[in-house]
Amino acid sequence: MVAITALLKVTTLLIFLIANYFFSLQPFKLYTNASNFHGVRCTEKERRALLKFKEGLKDPSGFLSSWVGHDCCSWKGVGCSNLTGEVVKLDLSNPNCYLKYYSDSPDNSSCLGGKLGPLNELQHLNYLNLSYNTFSGMIPPDFGNLSNLHVLDLHSVNYPPTLVSDLNWLSGLSSLKFLDLSSVNLSLATTHWLQAVNMLPSLLELHLADSELQTIPLFLPHLNFTSLSVLDLSYNLFDSQAPQWLFNISTVVELTLESSFSEGPFPSIIGCNLRHLDLSGNGLNGEISELLVGSFSRCRTSSLEELVLSGNQFSGQLPNSWGHLNNSLRTLGLAANSISGPLPTSIGELSKLQNLNLISNKLNGSIPKSLGRLTELEELYLDSNDWEGVLSQDHFQGLSKLKMLSISSLNRNFVLNLSPNWVPPFNLKRIDIYDCKLGPKFPKWLQTQTQLDFIYVTNASISEAIPSCLWKMSTRIRVLDLSHNQIRGILPSSLLFPNNTEIDLRFNSLEGPLPLWPNVSYLSLANNSFSGTIPLNIGQIMSTLTLLDLSSNKLNGNIPSSLGKIDMLRYLSLSKNRLSGKVHDQWIGEKFEVIDLSENNLSGNFPASLYSLPNIVQLKLSNNGFFGKLPFMKKNCKKLAFLDLGENKFSGTISKLIGENLLSLQVLRMRANQFSGNITKKLCRLQELHILDLAQNNLSGPIPACLSHLNGMKSRYHNEDSRLDIELVQKGSELEYDRDMIPLVNILDLSSNNLSGDISEEITNLSCLVTLNVSNNHLTGKIPQKIGDMRYLETLDLSSNHFSGQIPPGMSSLTFLNHLNLSHNNLSGQIPSGNQFPTFDKSIYEGNPGLCGSLLLTKCEVATDEEDGDHRSHNGDDKEDKYEKLGLFVSITLGFIVGFWSVCGYLLSLGKMRGFESIMGHK
Ligand SMILES: *[C@@H]1O[C@H](CO)[C@@H](O)[C@H](O)[C@H]1NC(C)=O
Ligand SMILES: *[C@@H]1O[C@H](CO)[C@@H](O)[C@H](O)[C@H]1NC(C)=O
Ligand SMILES: *[C@@H]1O[C@H](CO)[C@@H](O)[C@H](O)[C@H]1NC(C)=O
Ligand SMILES: *[C@@H]1O[C@H](CO)[C@@H](O)[C@H](O)[C@H]1NC(C)=O
Ligand SMILES: *[C@@H]1O[C@H](CO)[C@@H](O)[C@H](O)[C@H]1NC(C)=O
Ligand SMILES: *[C@@H]1O[C@H](CO)[C@@H](O)[C@H](O)[C@H]1NC(C)=O
Ligand SMILES: *[C@@H]1O[C@H](CO)[C@@H](O)[C@H](O)[C@H]1NC(C)=O
Repeated sequence: MVAITALLKVTTLLIFLIANYFFSLQPFKLYTNASNFHGVRCTEKERRALLKFKEGLKDPSGFLSSWVGHDCCSWKGVGCSNLTGEVVKLDLSNPNCYLKYYSDSPDNSSCLGGKLGPLNELQHLNYLNLSYNTFSGMIPPDFGNLSNLHVLDLHSVNYPPTLVSDLNWLSGLSSLKFLDLSSVNLSLATTHWLQAVNMLPSLLELHLADSELQTIPLFLPHLNFTSLSVLDLSYNLFDSQAPQWLFNISTVVELTLESSFSEGPFPSIIGCNLRHLDLSGNGLNGEISELLVGSFSRCRTSSLEELVLSGNQFSGQLPNSWGHLNNSLRTLGLAANSISGPLPTSIGELSKLQNLNLISNKLNGSIPKSLGRLTELEELYLDSNDWEGVLSQDHFQGLSKLKMLSISSLNRNFVLNLSPNWVPPFNLKRIDIYDCKLGPKFPKWLQTQTQLDFIYVTNASISEAIPSCLWKMSTRIRVLDLSHNQIRGILPSSLLFPNNTEIDLRFNSLEGPLPLWPNVSYLSLANNSFSGTIPLNIGQIMSTLTLLDLSSNKLNGNIPSSLGKIDMLRYLSLSKNRLSGKVHDQWIGEKFEVIDLSENNLSGNFPASLYSLPNIVQLKLSNNGFFGKLPFMKKNCKKLAFLDLGENKFSGTISKLIGENLLSLQVLRMRANQFSGNITKKLCRLQELHILDLAQNNLSGPIPACLSHLNGMKSRYHNEDSRLDIELVQKGSELEYDRDMIPLVNILDLSSNNLSGDISEEITNLSCLVTLNVSNNHLTGKIPQKIGDMRYLETLDLSSNHFSGQIPPGMSSLTFLNHLNLSHNNLSGQIPSGNQFPTFDKSIYEGNPGLCGSLLLTKCEVATDEEDGDHRSHNGDDKEDKYEKLGLFVSITLGFIVGFWSVCGYLLSLGKMRGFESIMGHK
């Protein structure tokens, strides 16, 4: 037996050698033109077919530039049989296109596009990989003629997908083992996709992720693929729960069903051969322990290595017994569920565990020390739970392979008791510790971590200065976020970081001069006590900045002109400092999106070039001493949404060019300046406007009636522009930069000017207005009768004008009104008494001698009867009346929330309101 095998081996070797010799010499005899390495070249028929295929494609990057000449076997991506020269392989997959398409600045210039033509002539093709390109149109049904195909990979990168297919042609591909049509639009096949793939008995892998499939049969008569081992149906839009049969295919080893199905219970039975199961983001519910213990109980052994159930609605406690899981499980992902209770000590039994993710659940109690027995653990994510007690060095004792660690707790009593001089058993690459007590000492042990490049230790009660050992690591650090501590001290003036490092040291007690760190792309030092001037050469040394936030410090001196010239700078905030002098009119950074210079002592003429930045979205110059007229508003400021010039000394008229060229404005704040002239009607063209604040100027003339056309004030206002919330995105984790939240209410404030004329009745069309203030003008006429239609008004100030006539009775239906002022007008008649009106102070009516009512000294003659009548009806049952009022209040409040949410989309968020107050300076 042994001899025979040996003989076979020798023979095979001989044949191989001879064949190799023969084929490698032959071509030089047969062909004079160059040929491929193995000495064969493609047939003319196939060469033509390939060129024809190429003709239909768009190839801006010259990906197929090698497709010239006779020997198509040497063309990029073409593979020929060594024996016959027939084209057997075509691989035009383009990972480069994928990377650039999904990068920060999406770009498809390296992608192949255009239409796919048939490849009928390539009858011997067994491998066709056209993945990661942006083809469009139908997949040619002729692909079904390629009966020798084993691999067909058309995984597309288009969004929205533009490559389309019904799948009727698939039946011809009976040898197919691998099929990937992810991100191909299969909506035409949504009713029969399963029948179509069921014709492929040899299939081993099927990937149909993000393919716009909507239906999946709940029961399946007969499954044809008897060897299917990998199935991926993620990111489809199935209109049902995941059918049980998906989990029973006995051959399937890897099953990925991320974000595809509607809510429902977890399947009761799971195939015993499954090694990887990903069901994240499906809204599945049920008891987590039943699932972890019960679903696998019928299997003799479970081979499950990876179980990802993140982003569902699982509840209950983690089981004490991990049943079948403990001898195989490597990855356990339970993030973003509602799992409560403690982490059981038995977690230490999952001895093969490499990745444990429990982020964002309701786990509480103290973390068990048995965690330290998970010697294989590489990634540990425990943040956003309710942990209590102490996490100590013991917890990490055996974790020598740990690379990623994240911890935080919503419970303020959670403490990390790690000695600053600790020498951890692990060598981390990334650390995330936030919202828990790690300080007051700086965790010096970070210096032992020689691979660490992502440091995120925020709101961790550290008050010591950053030790020099940390700065010695600077050449490695890519993200350093130590914000929201009480870190003291002075930063090293020069350090070298790698390219594109992101540094966030906001909200600390740092002081001294600003550092100049080259290569940093994101630098936030806001809310510290940095002093001195901004170095003149900052623009030259920190030339790769995309975000610079120095707000709320003690910086003085001028703004160096070099800042305006940083090519990539998108976000610049210098607000709330003591900067002075003129702002150079040399802003040329094309990329600028946000510039905030507010609350300084800047002065001088208006920096006109700030207005010609093509990408500017937000410009805040408020609370300075700028003066002069507004310059010509450039047409190319198309994206400007937020313009705040308030509290300066600007003068001149409100240019009609604002209404002509700044058509994206959402917020126009010109408050407290010296603007004069009429309010131009052109402002009425600003259809996106939600806040118009022209208060405290010298404006005269009438309030244009056409302001009632401002559609923005008839609809919700929430900020959908992601550019206004700068995000720090690093390796999939998003740290929102939410300091300057845009206010979320509609405001019209024209108070303290010299406006005259009356308020048009149509102003009441601005149905989602929350603040209307026209006080301190010379307005005449009546209060609009339909004022009660502005249901969401919270502030209405008409004081110090010459309004006359009665207070419209409908005003008492303004149930959210909490600030009303009608004083100092010529109003007469009865004051409203409904709803919350009795709670208002009488001073809001003062200076209107003609007004009367029970609150005022002047009682109304006609009204007395009514009041008596009221008393009579109330005499009987005071108690009931109280409850009625309470009931009314409850329904009003609920009504407000529901009504405003649905009509105006008002986001009831404290954080956002806080931001609103600080920006707008309204009370
Ligand atoms: C070699 O190829 C070139 C073009 O690729 C062609 O013009 C030439 O005729 C070929 N020579 C022979 C001998 O086939
Ligand atoms: C051709 O032969 C080489 C070396 O023997 C081998 O690496 C290659 O995979 C073969 N190509 C094909 C298409 O069979
Ligand atoms: C197709 O090409 C891509 C990118 O090169 C690769 O990742 C993928 O594995 C290939 N598909 C198959 C089935 O070989
Ligand atoms: C190729 O496929 C098309 C469409 O499926 C069919 O009409 C045609 O006859 C096939 N051609 C060959 C050569 O098999
Ligand atoms: C199974 O595959 C064979 C061969 O492709 C096909 O003829 C048959 O109709 C398929 N059965 C089902 C139930 O789809
Ligand atoms: C860092 O950026 C500079 C300038 O953009 C570039 O020349 C250099 O090659 C980059 N270094 C690395 C390591 O990428
Ligand atoms: C301002 O408005 C008043 C009243 O409508 C009008 O008489 C006057 O001409 C306007 N002034 C300008 C400069 O448009």
